[in-house]
Amino acid sequence: MASDSNQRSIELTQHFTNVASNYRSDSLFQSPSYQQWLHEITFNALDLKPNHTVVDLGCGPGQDSLWLSNKMNKEINLIASDISSGMMKILDDEIHKRNLSSIIKTYCMDAVTFSQQKQLPPFHRLLLKQFIHLLSHEERLLAFRGFYEQLDSNDNKLLIIGRPPKEIFPFDKRTQEIFLSSIPSTETYIQELEMCGFANIQYDVYRYTSDGSITLEHWINFIQNRLWSTFSPEHMTDEQITDCISYLKDKYKNEKFQFQDEMLILHCTAKKFITQ
Ligand SMILES: C[S@@+](CC[C@H](N)C(=O)[O-])C[C@H]1O[C@@H](n2cnc3c(N)ncnc32)[C@H](O)[C@@H]1O
Repeated sequence: MASDSNQRSIELTQHFTNVASNYRSDSLFQSPSYQQWLHEITFNALDLKPNHTVVDLGCGPGQDSLWLSNKMNKEINLIASDISSGMMKILDDEIHKRNLSSIIKTYCMDAVTFSQQKQLPPFHRLLLKQFIHLLSHEERLLAFRGFYEQLDSNDNKLLIIGRPPKEIFPFDKRTQEIFLSSIPSTETYIQELEMCGFANIQYDVYRYTSDGSITLEHWINFIQNRLWSTFSPEHMTDEQITDCISYLKDKYKNEKFQFQDEMLILHCTAKKFITQ
C-alpha cells in the first residue's frame, strides 16, 4: 500500500497534470499588472548575474524560466523541473518553439529526487516559487539537505516564494480553512532551513492590489477551474465549490470586488566552509 506521502504526491501530480492546459491561459495569470508585480518581486529577490545557473523547481509550465531567460538576454543557464508531465510538456514545447534548448534544461521528477541528483552543475540560485508548501515537513528536510549540497560554494541563494499563512483571498469559511491549512508558518520554513545548514535567512511580504483588471468573474472562473491544489477534488467536492462561488456572488452583490494578493519572499544562503 502506498504511504500517505506517496498517495499525496500521486494526487498532486495528477491534479497539476489535469489543470496544466488551463494554467497558463487563466485570466488571473494573464493580467499584465499582476504578472509584472510577480516578475518584479521575483527578479529583484533573485539578484542574478550573467552566467549564473538558476534552478526553477516546481516550475509548472515554466513562465518564470522563460521570462528570466528573456530578461537576462539568455546570459544565464536555467534548469527547470516539475513532478507533472503535463506541465513539463507545455514548457518543453515552448522551449522548442523559442529555440531555447541550450539555455533551459528540463527534468520531470519530484523535488526530493531532484535534490539527490549529483550530476548537475552547482546552482547559484534555487527558486522555489509557489510549490514548496506542497511538500511534507519530512520531504522538505530531505530536499533542503540535498539542495545544500547542490548549491555553489561561493555564490548561492535559495528563495522560497509563496503566500504568507493568513487570510488573503475572499473565500467562504470552509475554503478559507482548507487554504490556510495548506500553508506552513514562516517559522517552520526558518527552522527547517536552519536544521539543514542554511544561514542569513531573511524575508519580506509584498502586497498586490488589483488595478481592476482582475474581476469577480475571473476569480470565480479560477476557483471553478480548480487551478490550485486547494480546489482539487481531493480537497473540495463539486458542492463545496458551488457553495464557495454562491458565497462570493452574494458577498459582492453590493460590495466592490478588489483582488489582492500577498507574497512572502524568504531567502537564505548555504553557508559552506571550504576546508583547505
Ligand atoms: C502552484 S504551481 C507553481 C508553478 C510555478 N512555480 C509558478 O510559480 O507559477 C505548483 C507546481 O509544483 C509542482 N509540484 C507539486 N509537487 C511537487 C513535487 N513534489 N516535486 C516537484 N514539483 C511539484 C506541480 O506540478 C505544479 O506545477
